[in-house]
Amino acid sequence: MSKKIAVLPGDGIGPEVTEQALKVLKAVSSRFDLSFEYHFADVGAIAIDKHGDPLPEATLQLCLDSDAILFGAIGHPKYDNDPSAPVRPEQGLLRLRKSLGLFANIRPVTLYPTLAHLSPLKPEKVEGVDMVVYRELTGGIYFGEKGRNQHEAFDHCVYTAVEIARIAHLAFEAARKRRKQVTLVDKANVLETSRLWRSVVQEIAVNYPDITLDWMYVDNAAMQLIQNPAHFDVVLTENMFGDILSDEASVLVGSLGMLPSSSVGAHTALFEPIHGSYPQAAGKNIANPIAAILSAAMLLDHLHYSAAATSIREAVRETLEAGFGTSDLEAAQLLGCSEMGDHISELVLKAAVVA
Ligand code: IPM
Ligand code: MN
Repeated sequence: MSKKIAVLPGDGIGPEVTEQALKVLKAVSSRFDLSFEYHFADVGAIAIDKHGDPLPEATLQLCLDSDAILFGAIGHPKYDNDPSAPVRPEQGLLRLRKSLGLFANIRPVTLYPTLAHLSPLKPEKVEGVDMVVYRELTGGIYFGEKGRNQHEAFDHCVYTAVEIARIAHLAFEAARKRRKQVTLVDKANVLETSRLWRSVVQEIAVNYPDITLDWMYVDNAAMQLIQNPAHFDVVLTENMFGDILSDEASVLVGSLGMLPSSSVGAHTALFEPIHGSYPQAAGKNIANPIAAILSAAMLLDHLHYSAAATSIREAVRETLEAGFGTSDLEAAQLLGCSEMGDHISELVLKAAVVA
């Protein structure tokens, strides 16, 4: 049966990296005899330009009617320095997450040994880095009541026990399939919301006696990510801490251009690179499409096409080991964005098909 994929390329380098992910998905379809139907829709700055809305109703409806969403990137420099802009591209993504109930954002951070030299850390520090961040995505300071006048502004941070519990369960389940450790990152020495996180997560931990739970204040976690990154297995945290720490974690492994993510919850799951729209590189065929391509692999896993997903990850590994890379990877064999998509597709077409 054919799966319906909503494709939301968005802004900046979003369209070109998404095109490479689609190229690889096409290779996967032919190699593994899978069938996908792609439906494109606008989101972000381009949707504001075309429809006056960063998340047009038709885009949301398409997402609700699809089996999965492949998302590019959003953001445009014309909004960055304009605090008075009434609508912003980012609102499109935030509303999409909220409308689909995508409460868990899953960001794996894995070191490819061939890229260890690109890390700002010494190779012996990054060796063995393999963590996954479970970031709460539809609550906290991002979605609390907000207000501003000329002299004062506020953003409320609110969490309910239910919001904490549902992502905590996912994090513990994930740890079961990994190194069996969950680190809860919070600021429980200062914030009430963090104290609620601790008490709810501690209660849930009782149901997972095989998992070790440890806690870290977010300031310490920011430091430990640099000092001892291999310590982390599953990092569980609230929305804004997760936003910040996952960007920090991503540079440890060499390039932000390598990291995929999935967002799951009540409705259609969404798959997107964690990098932004990188407008300076847009249209130059220099962006690294690997994060988008690996996001497509996460999409395949989600649809239970795991052999197909593995073929993509293997193709990426092989490509890097052979010395190919985009300019951010300072590769011996320099490829453009599109050529990287071609290269990975060719390897996928030759992948062994495991029954
Ligand atoms: C991310 C991004 C978004 C966020 C922005 C674009 C709203 O930084 O996905 O990490 O802050 O969640
Ligand atoms: Mn972010």
